[in-house]
Amino acid sequence: MLLLETKNLSKHFGGLKAVEAVDMRVERERIVSVIGPNGAGKTTFFNCVTGIYQPTQGTIRFQDRDVTGMAPHDITALGIARTFQNIRLFGGMTCRENVMIAAHCRTKAGVFGALARTSRVRNEERDMVYRAVDILRFVGLDEKQEGIAANLSYGDQRRLEIARALGTEPHLLLLDEPAAGMNPLETQLLMDLIRKIRDNGVAIILIEHDMKVVMGISDRVVVLDHGVKIAEGHPREIREDTAVIEAYLGKDHPHH
Ligand SMILES: Nc1ncnc2c1ncn2[C@@H]1O[C@H](COP(=O)(O)OP(=O)(O)O)[C@@H](O)[C@H]1O
Ligand SMILES: [Mg+2]
Repeated sequence: MLLLETKNLSKHFGGLKAVEAVDMRVERERIVSVIGPNGAGKTTFFNCVTGIYQPTQGTIRFQDRDVTGMAPHDITALGIARTFQNIRLFGGMTCRENVMIAAHCRTKAGVFGALARTSRVRNEERDMVYRAVDILRFVGLDEKQEGIAANLSYGDQRRLEIARALGTEPHLLLLDEPAAGMNPLETQLLMDLIRKIRDNGVAIILIEHDMKVVMGISDRVVVLDHGVKIAEGHPREIREDTAVIEAYLGKDHPHH
């Protein structure tokens, strides 16, 4: 079943076509990777889908609803969550608090009601603690739930970012370079976690430079170059695509 569909999606910054006429489809419980050189428009694509940027043209449909131009918190509430290329955690707070803040968009009282502390709010808060702990267990951070986020290893901070995103109960999760800075063991654990999230019914769009990760877990790979989709297919097809090799794996590319 189709979950996300962009048609002719473009984002221009002045004369720069950061994203240009991108058609993308993501079905339920699929892992779709977006690859391409630095500056190809991958993060800008995420920023359009999550409502941070207004697209210059094109449409974004999510679960049969036109979400083009909707505000970020409304898009989150509909079920799209993301992590950021540069980690964005509340560094001074515990892991559990970080997940609970994200989960506030799912409570009836919301953040403002929480300030009034009615009995319903207290019950909701207790449930949120349990749920936050469940999510931390799911990503393998339950033993660090009381730990301060800033003190976590880099790999654990990236896992906590994913836990925060899961706290909003998404149907679609956008991961922006989640393996960046991870060691090989952390990367392996991350791949297992991404598969486990998918197996729990969440579709994933993954921006990632680590080709072992991309080729290992993707159902489909989309290649962007200068904002344009230049290829799409099964990991095996993408590995052999000459346009991809030239754009992405060429000798001038900093990753090779
Ligand atoms: N807010 C912005 N204002 C102007 N240019 C931007 C902005 N965001 C991104 N860009 C430009 O858009 C292009 C694509 O950037 P980005 O989406 O971050 O690429 P990627 O994530 O693939 O490395 C780059 O040339 C970048 O400099
Ligand atoms: Mg980026």
